[in-house]
Amino acid sequence: MEIDQLPTTPTRCSTLKDLLPAPWELLKELPAAGAFNDGIFLVRHAKTKDQAALKVNAFQTPPDADFLSQLHHKNITKYIGTISLGEFGFGILMEFCDEGDLKDYCGQQTEIPEDFIWHVFESVADALSYCYDGPEDAKYWRPILHNDIRPANVFLSSKSQSGEVLNAKYPRVVLGDFGLASHPSNYDSEYDGDEEYDEAAMLCSYSVQRDVCVLGRMIDSWDHKGEGYWPRCRGDKVSPYSKQLKELTGACQKANSMQRPLPNELLRMIRDARCARRQ
Ligand SMILES: Nc1ncnc2c1ncn2[C@@H]1O[C@H](COP(=O)(O)OP(=O)(O)O)[C@@H](O)[C@H]1O
Ligand SMILES: [Mg+2]
Repeated sequence: MEIDQLPTTPTRCSTLKDLLPAPWELLKELPAAGAFNDGIFLVRHAKTKDQAALKVNAFQTPPDADFLSQLHHKNITKYIGTISLGEFGFGILMEFCDEGDLKDYCGQQTEIPEDFIWHVFESVADALSYCYDGPEDAKYWRPILHNDIRPANVFLSSKSQSGEVLNAKYPRVVLGDFGLASHPSNYDSEYDGDEEYDEAAMLCSYSVQRDVCVLGRMIDSWDHKGEGYWPRCRGDKVSPYSKQLKELTGACQKANSMQRPLPNELLRMIRDARCARRQ
C-alpha cells in the first residue's frame, strides 16, 4: 500500500485498533509530523496500563529499531520492541515522553533559563557519549552516530525510564529518532585540514565530530541571525547567555573538526562548567 493510500485519522485509528496485537491498546494518534514515519501513536499495555509510543512505517520495521535495541541509557528513548501491523506496516514500541519534544516545548515558553539549556546540553552530550563509547562494561562496541540532532528529535519526560514521576526541576531530556543513525564508515577519511572541505564535511558526511558540531549549533542557535529557537533569543543581537556556554558551543563548532571535543570530553567539560557555575 502506498503511503498516500493509508487511511487518515480517525479511520486510520480504527484500522490500527484492529491490527494492534495484544496486550497493546490504542489511545490516540500523536500530532507528530515527521518526515520519516507513517504515524506516531500513543498506546497502552492492557494489564500494566503503562503507556508507550508506537512509531509506524508502512513498508519496513522503522530503522531506529536496530540501534535503539542496543542502547540502554537514561537519555535515550527506551526500546520496548517491534511489532507487525498487517496492512498498516510495522511498528516500533518505545517509551512515551509525556512532555513532547524540545521544539514544541520551546515554542510554548516565553523565556528559557540558561540552566535549562545546560541541562539539555549535558543530557544530549551524555547520550552521544554513550552512543559513541558504549556501556562501561562493553568488551566490544561499534560506535553509533545519531546524524539528526535537532530540537524535534530531543524529547522530554516527567518520568524516569522505569515510570516513576521524577519531581525534578526540569524534565528528563531524551534523545530520540534514531532513523538516520549509522556506524562511522571510515574513521580516518573525515579530516583533511581544509576549512572549506570541512564545512562541506560538516554538512554532508556523518561523523562523531558532525554530531558534536550540530549539538553545539543547536545549543547556541540564538546567534544564528535571529533564527534561534530558544524563545528569549529570537532576534536578540547579543546573546543573553554566559561566556562559558558560548565558549563550549564554539569548541563544538571549530572549523577544524579534529579540534572539536569527542562526546566524552564534551560531557566532562560541560559537567566542570556546571560545577563552576554552582560555586
Ligand atoms: N517516544 C516518543 N515520545 C513522545 N513523542 C514522540 C516520541 N517519538 C516521537 N515523538 C514525536 O513524534 C515526532 C516525530 O517522531 P520521529 O521519531 O522524530 O519521526 P521522524 O523520523 O519522522 O522524524 C517527534 O518530533 C516527537 O514530537
Ligand atoms: Mg524526527
